[in-house]
Amino acid sequence: MLSRNLGQSGISVSAIGLGCMGLSEFYGEPTQESEAIDLLHRAIDLGVTHFDTAEIYGQGRNEQLLGKAFAGRWDQIVLATKFGPQRDPATGAFVGVDGSPANVRNSCEKSLKRLGTEKIDLYYLHRVDPATQIEDTVGEMAKLVQEGKIGAVGLSEASARTIERAHAVHPITALQTEYSIFSRDIEKDILPTCLKLGISLVAYSPLGRGMLTGRFATPSDRPTSETDFRAQAQPRFQPGNIETNLKLVETIKEIATQKGCTAAQVALAWVLGQGDHVVAIPGTTKLANLESNLGALDCRLTEENRATLNTLADQVLGDRY
Ligand code: ATR
Repeated sequence: MLSRNLGQSGISVSAIGLGCMGLSEFYGEPTQESEAIDLLHRAIDLGVTHFDTAEIYGQGRNEQLLGKAFAGRWDQIVLATKFGPQRDPATGAFVGVDGSPANVRNSCEKSLKRLGTEKIDLYYLHRVDPATQIEDTVGEMAKLVQEGKIGAVGLSEASARTIERAHAVHPITALQTEYSIFSRDIEKDILPTCLKLGISLVAYSPLGRGMLTGRFATPSDRPTSETDFRAQAQPRFQPGNIETNLKLVETIKEIATQKGCTAAQVALAWVLGQGDHVVAIPGTTKLANLESNLGALDCRLTEENRATLNTLADQVLGDRY
């Protein structure tokens, strides 16, 4: 398995990791626990070492699941989790972001408990709190590093300026942001800033939340279940946009067919080909998809393929959220 370093931290991870959110929430009903644990174990056996969760995924249940799966195997993996966004415990509604030093500490302690481990390898501020100076948030995260509770500091969905301010307080190891053939807005300021400061980019939704895999053949295949956040909250999946977006996916499918790869493999190969400072964390709940996605490491795109794929993002209809 190809591995890459995360920032300047000395932490090395498999270039393709696993986004674990969908096992508990947001992409339909949660996966059965035994099935989810089998998938996580199989991922380790296949060489995946980078696992990504957050305290908000399933309101703590995703961390608990990973804690159960990784008990006794922590030395084989790099675990990343995140804090900040707040949810109403009763309804699950998002009610704000808390990046205060008190919440940095409080959230970390709770995540450690749910995971059943003594150290979080990579701890992210999941969304920037507009009411707290980033220096204060990262200052407290730096204390957690000194105390050995976390191994490295990350940010998610932060601006170039915020990344620079944070990095001046404590080295930022990774920025996690959506990045895919369809979502390239970070290339203007954010990715160059990461490159300049030696920060890795952890690309989430590298498969465009499933759209780039070609699994939705026609607009009527769009997700509609109440438990699937793409049904309502995702502009690119809405009627009026999805028709155009699925036509763009045809180009990815054509390249995949020419190369004897799957569309998902082309999408992941494109992300990983953007540079050695980029790693991907596609999400899946299915063993067959996990195994197939790892095959992206053998999918070699030509410059011509990349040039064709590079024309797509500007034609996508609908915002990321
Ligand atoms: P996120 O980072 O939010 O998890 P993503 O990685 O872009 O988003 O896409 C995740 C979606 O792609 C999931 O719905 C996943 O569905 P399964 O759980 O059914 O696999 C889907 N997905 C992942 N790999 C896939 C593949 N090889 N073929 C089809 N769908 C796939």
